Parts: sequence; C-alpha cells; structure tokens
Amino acid sequence: MNILVTGATSGIGRQLALDYHAAGHSVWALGRSADALAELAQQGLHTGQLDLEDREESLAWFAGIEKLDLAILSAGNCEYIDLPAFDSALVARVMRANVESLAHSIEGVLPALRKGNNPHLVGIGSSAAYLPLPRAEAYGASKAAVAYMLDTLRIGLAAEGVRVSHVAPGFVKTPLTDRNDFPMPCLVTVEQASRAIRKGIAAGKMEIHFPRRFTATMKLLSLLPRSVWLPLARKMAKS
Ligand SMILES: NC(=O)c1ccc[n+]([C@@H]2O[C@H](COP(=O)([O-])OP(=O)(O)OC[C@H]3O[C@@H](n4cnc5c(N)ncnc54)[C@H](OP(=O)(O)O)[C@@H]3O)[C@@H](O)[C@H]2O)c1
Repeated sequence: MNILVTGATSGIGRQLALDYHAAGHSVWALGRSADALAELAQQGLHTGQLDLEDREESLAWFAGIEKLDLAILSAGNCEYIDLPAFDSALVARVMRANVESLAHSIEGVLPALRKGNNPHLVGIGSSAAYLPLPRAEAYGASKAAVAYMLDTLRIGLAAEGVRVSHVAPGFVKTPLTDRNDFPMPCLVTVEQASRAIRKGIAAGKMEIHFPRRFTATMKLLSLLPRSVWLPLARKMAKS
C-alpha cells in the first residue's frame, strides 16, 4: 500500500510509520523535527517536513503526492487549562494543532486518496472526547471536533468509496503524555497502540478505541446523566 502518516516524527504516528514500513509498505512520514525525519529517512521511509498549521505550505506539499491507499492523520498536541485562569490563547493553540491541522491534512490527502485502491482515511482523536474531563476544556473540545469531522466526512465520502475511521486512544506512553502530572490508568506502549490501530484499520473498523478496559469504562460513564458524572469528575479533579 501507499501510506502517509502525519505526526510520524514522534509517539503513535512514528510507531505506525515504522511498523507499516517494516511490513513492506511504501510510507510517507511527515513531521517538523528535521532530526527525527532524517532518522526515518535513514531507515528507508519517504519523509516530508512541514508545519500542518500552515495551510498554504501544507497544500503545496500535498499537491506533490500522486496516489495514496491509506492516510493516517496523527499530528496533534495537548495542553491543559488550569483554572482559575481560562486562557483563550491556549484554546486557540490547541484548536490550531488538533482541528485546523487535521482539516489542512484532510484537504491535502483527499485528491491522492481518490486515486488510491480501496482508500482509507484515518484520523487520531482521543477517548477524552467521550466525557467532560477535568482540565480538558480545550483538548477535549478539539478532539470532540475531530470525532464530529470524521463521522460526518464518512457520510459524505461513502459515495466515492473512501472509508473513514476515527481512532480514540486511551493513555499511550509518548512524549505528549510524559508531560502529564497525574496518574494515567491503563497506560499502553506505542507498540501496543500501533498494533491496535493497525488491526482496526485492517478490519475496516469505523471507530478504533483501546485499551478496551479503559475506553469501555469511559463509554459506560458517558451514558450516565451529567448530574451523576459531575460529583465523580469533581472528586477526580481534587485528587
Ligand atoms: N499519547 C496519548 O496518550 C494519546 C491519547 C489520545 C490521543 N492522542 C493523540 O494521538 C496523536 C499523537 O499523539 P502522540 O502521543 O504520539 O504525541 P507526540 O509524541 O507528541 O507526537 C506528536 C506528533 O505530531 C506532530 N505535530 C504536532 N504539531 C504539528 C504541526 N503543526 N505540523 C506538523 N506536525 C505536527 C509532531 O511533530 P514534530 O515533533 O516533528 O513537531 C509529532 O510527530 C495526537 O493527535 C494526540 O492528541 C494521544
């Protein structure tokens, strides 16, 4: 397959790019870090250095890609709100990193996917979007937007035969979560995350969520009335 992975210079995206390359696929690995890209190029992956927040730069780069069978959009970032300071500049940064960058990537890869075999567009959201979580006013909202964008795109692209999957991971050990200063239940490795995502993609799943024991609990809690969830979330925030 011809595969493109954004956010391939670190964490989940990097592991996916390496695993698909090791399985014999032709992989485009995208990111900003020149050192990380050089290391991937040494291992035989095609690389592209671009800032996905820059629409013009991104679309110009993507225009050079001929044909794609699978695009995995993993680039993103996480910042938390620390009340009492509600920082709208932080909200804007997170929206740019997770929503605008994703939109630029989707616009960029669609023409190449439309020429691909059994094309598949995969976006990495987060299980944080299942529930209102303490400090996730910006991150959770951005990932809820990602989920909505992918779910609606799936409807629109079905007629063209482009499949769309939404990935909702729990906690995965990466540089992004290494910054977290709170306990992360059911934390998994990037190798485990890559395996779960690749398995879900191969099975053509619309929603890929893992680890199940964590995401199933989140889904169950999301069914509770918000009046029941609120005291639990406040207790979580205090601890
Ligand atoms: N780790 C988790 O527990 C977890 C859980 C749920 C969802 N997620 C989501 O999974 C995705 C990957 O997260 P991760 O944990 O693997 O994070 P990570 O290790 O910090 O990797 C983030 C990647 O995104 C790239 N990126 C960020 N902004 C970019 C931009 N403007 N232009 C181009 N590339 C950009 C980074 O590139 P450079 O480093 O080269 O700048 C890096 O390759 C994110 O969307 C995250 O929200 C992660």
